[in-house]
Amino acid sequence: MNADLLVTGIAQLVTAEGPGPKRGAEMRRLKIVERAAVAIARGLIAWVGEERDWKGTAAEVIDVGGRAVAPGLVDPHTHAVWAGDRLADFEARTSGASYEAILAAGGGIRSTIRATAGASEEELIAVAVPRIRALVCSGATVIEVKSGYGFSSDAEMKMLRVVRSLAANTPARLVPTLLIHVPPAETGDRAPYLSDVCQTLIPAVAREELAQAVDVFVEKEAWRVAEAEAMLQAARQHGLGIKLHTEQFHRVGGLEMGLRMGALSVDHLEACSSEQITSVAAASTIATILPGVSLHLGLPSAPGRALIDAGAAVAIGTDLNPGSSPLFSTSMALALAVRLNGLTAQEALVAGTVNAACALGLRDAGRIEPGLRADFLVLQSSDWRDLVYTFGTNSVREVWIAGQRAEEACL
Ligand code: NIG
Ligand code: FE
Repeated sequence: MNADLLVTGIAQLVTAEGPGPKRGAEMRRLKIVERAAVAIARGLIAWVGEERDWKGTAAEVIDVGGRAVAPGLVDPHTHAVWAGDRLADFEARTSGASYEAILAAGGGIRSTIRATAGASEEELIAVAVPRIRALVCSGATVIEVKSGYGFSSDAEMKMLRVVRSLAANTPARLVPTLLIHVPPAETGDRAPYLSDVCQTLIPAVAREELAQAVDVFVEKEAWRVAEAEAMLQAARQHGLGIKLHTEQFHRVGGLEMGLRMGALSVDHLEACSSEQITSVAAASTIATILPGVSLHLGLPSAPGRALIDAGAAVAIGTDLNPGSSPLFSTSMALALAVRLNGLTAQEALVAGTVNAACALGLRDAGRIEPGLRADFLVLQSSDWRDLVYTFGTNSVREVWIAGQRAEEACL
């Protein structure tokens, strides 16, 4: 075999096995190869194994000096495009106001919508580029980015065009999602906006291939189940995937509707009951947990441990956004899931790679395996568990995307 590059000196190479089947039990398999090497040809993994078993030739050899190698992380839930800040909300919350009360009073998400409406596409790109770079530095090689800070079809299209420009600006693979976040400020506007979303926005987004899925926030202060269902039906009719922000504060039926409709993922789940855990486990939908939100808002943590024990497939995301999770590190999200949601290091790695890829409908990401894009991380440590053990500094030394070392890599 002829390779363009052979990476040697890998103390431990860790990867999930298999393409990420739907059921959790199969997804939890992790393979560790000691004293490993990886061969890369034309940006793809050509061979993986013990270094002593390599029999081919390589144009270039790079020795990583006895460090661990892990798959590029997949961040399946971010709101990386926004303008303004939520520092006043943060201060109000630290003085006792709740996230929901701030939203109900017209602040929170709605204040970010106003700030984002006032920014040009160029301004939004300028503020989002360093956020994407921070996620890449922390190990993300596939990143979902949502719209959702718009009260109009034009505003959502603008955000999705920004995501498209960001994708051209980073070696990471960006996966765009149309998020219909909260109804317009005046309550009377719900029905016209809903029909505009179903009849104009979703068809236009599908036609222009501006998003791969549609996400709706189902909550007392956001959309009702019937409204969300109408939007998700429209998404399905136009060939888009569907996902939900649901059971964050209250159980209003979003989770059951999402499972019934075959959503790719149901995200948040901090308020999930034990009966709902059983239903998620029985479904093909991925349960995406967002530990940054629990840390930042002081919410109960999503029942990650119970979900996995019941047989659900769990993914982890940063939920990077200014209001509920200003978390700019995908590896830190994994580290938090171990502490706050009761996952083991192995489960967190699977959740942040192959399961997160499944939450985006991707079967070709999150593993180090021949034929897949050569996305992998060289860690600071010789032991892969350092990825989820360390926090407050970057445990990722190098980020490789499609066989190239990303410039973003921090150290
Ligand atoms: O995933 N809860 C709804 N949406 C986002 C928060 C967005 C914001 O606060 O700006 C979330 O938590
Ligand atoms: Fe979110």
